[in-house]
Amino acid sequence: MAPRLAHDRMRSARSLRPSETPVKPSIRPTRPHFSSGPCAKRPGWSLDALSGALLGRSHRFPEAKARLDEVAQRSKQLLGIPDDYRVGIVPGSDTGAFEMALWSLLGERGVDVLAWESFGATWASDLTQQLALEDTRVLEADYGELPDLASVDFSHDVVFPWNGTTSGVCIPNGDWIPAERAGLTLCGATSAVFAMAIPWDKLDVATWSWQKVLGGEAAHGMLCLSPRAVERLEGSAPPRPLPKVFRLTRKGKLAEGIFRGETINTPSMLCVEDALDGLRWVAEVGGADAIRQRCQANLAAVEEWVARTPWVEFLARTQETRSCTSICLSLVAPAFSALDSSEKSALVKKIVGLLADEDVAYDIGGYRDAPPGLRIWGGATVETRDLDAMLPWLDWAWQELQPTSPPT
Ligand SMILES: Cc1ncc(COP(=O)(O)O)c(C=O)c1O
Repeated sequence: MAPRLAHDRMRSARSLRPSETPVKPSIRPTRPHFSSGPCAKRPGWSLDALSGALLGRSHRFPEAKARLDEVAQRSKQLLGIPDDYRVGIVPGSDTGAFEMALWSLLGERGVDVLAWESFGATWASDLTQQLALEDTRVLEADYGELPDLASVDFSHDVVFPWNGTTSGVCIPNGDWIPAERAGLTLCGATSAVFAMAIPWDKLDVATWSWQKVLGGEAAHGMLCLSPRAVERLEGSAPPRPLPKVFRLTRKGKLAEGIFRGETINTPSMLCVEDALDGLRWVAEVGGADAIRQRCQANLAAVEEWVARTPWVEFLARTQETRSCTSICLSLVAPAFSALDSSEKSALVKKIVGLLADEDVAYDIGGYRDAPPGLRIWGGATVETRDLDAMLPWLDWAWQELQPTSPPT
């Protein structure tokens, strides 16, 4: 198997010469699932993994509450989240968890929001348009770049994603966040948690969803609060009414039950079982470090291919900000650059469609608001050998569909 794969790689490198007839690879990935969410299920997953789910039972009874709490406690332990942080399950996936934090916590002081792709941009608009917070600074950067982290004002609350899923640009580390800060840091970390090293002590709020790095079912959100975030919640009521699904306090005190398996509303116990299955898998493969290494190996496979492929580049401008989960690639061949924006999008769509029709790569088109390009999920549930098998198909698709070069 391995020598044939190497042979295929060589052929795909050779197939870059425009005059040559495209060579259709002979090897297909076993699992062509490279979507950025919902992401591939863990290797070996089947519906049998859910056979022990507590279906048709009340989520308020002890056994169900224990399972809900197990998701939070296992996550906390595997991720090395400090003991004095709260981790709970809330409605509405990552969006629910993060919006709940924004609406519950912000307003006491100014806010800096970092927007370098679609999610940060949406939160910036939430803060300025919906919450109408007057003292809001939007620190922007183009797709591919990060805003100037040195110019963040930590006397403000600071809102940012850890990994910009739609541009494939991530925060490289937490060094830019001071240990002592007056404001809170609120981080939407859904496509980073389990894939990247997260400095929990630098985050007052972190959120993620089950459908990303561990390939769970999209359903509920994980909300992680530092003691300082709890202090804020208990110290000042938000200056706005909140819908029930956003309420984290009761009579001025943290609703502690949320962090002990007592969800605000009814959860899907099927999804809970699936989340537990993902967490058990983390332990089986060796813990969070091993999971991060799987993501790094996937990025390395793509890096190796990009290095020898003249028609693509990473959208992320620097190596240290390259995401190992949402790996975003730009098409840089002169013939592609010469197209207008709608022609570019149409061509990318064709490439993506051709690969899906061949059942070798599903859902690898870039996000709708990002510059036309490819986005390949490299999270832990993707096997590196599947990426290795898929990449030559990209060369083939490009050879099949590339526009003719503009006259020189
Ligand atoms: C950075 C980021 N934030 C928020 C979300 C929304 O997550 P969900 O759809 O699970 O609510 C996503 C989903 O891709 C994301 O990548």
